[in-house]
Amino acid sequence: MELVVEGNCYVSGRFERCCVGIEDGRIAQVAKVLDGDRVMRFGSKLVLPGAIDSHVHFREPGMTRKEDFGTGSLAALHGGVTCVLEMPNTTPPTTTLSALREKKKLASSKSIVDFGLFAGLRPGVDVPGLAKEAVGFKLYMASTTGELLIPDLDDVRVEIAAVARSGRVLAVHAEDESLRRKEVERDLEGHLRNRPNECEANAVRKIKNAAKECRLHICHVSAKSSLQLITNDKGVTSEVTPHHLLLDTAGKLGTLGKVNPPLRRRDDRQALFQALKNGTFDIIASDHAPHTMDEKQEDFDYAPSGMPGVETLVPLMLQLVRDRHLAIGDAMRRLCERPGEIFGLNKGRIAVGFDADLMVVDLMEGSLIKADRLHSKCGWSAYDDMPGIFPKAVLLRGQMMIEDGHQVGERAGRDARGPA
Ligand code: DOR
Ligand code: ZN
Ligand code: ZN
Repeated sequence: MELVVEGNCYVSGRFERCCVGIEDGRIAQVAKVLDGDRVMRFGSKLVLPGAIDSHVHFREPGMTRKEDFGTGSLAALHGGVTCVLEMPNTTPPTTTLSALREKKKLASSKSIVDFGLFAGLRPGVDVPGLAKEAVGFKLYMASTTGELLIPDLDDVRVEIAAVARSGRVLAVHAEDESLRRKEVERDLEGHLRNRPNECEANAVRKIKNAAKECRLHICHVSAKSSLQLITNDKGVTSEVTPHHLLLDTAGKLGTLGKVNPPLRRRDDRQALFQALKNGTFDIIASDHAPHTMDEKQEDFDYAPSGMPGVETLVPLMLQLVRDRHLAIGDAMRRLCERPGEIFGLNKGRIAVGFDADLMVVDLMEGSLIKADRLHSKCGWSAYDDMPGIFPKAVLLRGQMMIEDGHQVGERAGRDARGPA
């Protein structure tokens, strides 16, 4: 075996002291004892699959003052995320094959972790063409950063049908533009008033009706009233973010907490948490949406929506595990296995044939999240000074990338869907 990683490994839903044998970047064998040209021993530390963050905005091309594939992916790597799925609301938006290929070129030359690229859905897009190279399609039902708003689903009936035929996932930002109020906002409560719970729930209802044949994925579910619409619906998958689980309007975040869908009240947050424990959400993803501090220092009403989170996604969830609020299997399923399954990636599990993306974690060694030590270009975090558990080591396809919390490997990111 080229490389053997030994530790307390998460295999088939449980921990085992064993060895992961790696050849050509893939897991070739999992066994109690293995010989290797190189052996890395991690003792009783946990060896977990690298996480897949299925919802990030890396802002390239067009908004690289906020982030780019280099900084965004470096942040991902330090947070144990070895694959990111990147959203199409860039400039230009990723709605044509040439824009998708251009973005793929940029990402291939700059990304440190593997990636997949979403294509944006709007009238007239070449769905079959895009489906061959994109990891999925993204539909924006309400206005937010970028120009991909589709307020009336009738305008994309044909395209939705084509996505269904393509077999690709349709990921949806579900907020009903017609229920959005446009009053002046002064604080998080004001932002919430403009985007009430019903705004989300109604959008979920509408898209479920309009996309019955699709593999529908509801992004960043935030409202209690949406929960009954996604539970027990086998055809629909869903995602929750750390910020909707951990933060609410009572916090003193000001514009830093301004996101879409909005942070809600405590009882919504608690309902999401309970739903997470009951198995409702398939995926926990960051919706990493960096904006510069200058932009966030505008008056509340003008400040853009979105917060960074790709680097803190895994550390915050592992902290919940350590504090016994979340079972580790529930975290692994939503951070690794399900995103891999839903988006058809060869990642997210320690099993033969899967990419050897691994993170090594010691749950007893936590630290405080410090915004100035994170790697996103935006330089701030809503989680500053909160406890988190960062991985000690991270491997991408068998290559050591982070050791003792420091970057060691060279840039090696590529499209997780393989060469076009
Ligand atoms: O808060 C948000 N920010 N929500 C979105 O849907 C988009 C994102 C962004 O790209 O800034
Ligand atoms: Zn969104
Ligand atoms: Zn988003």
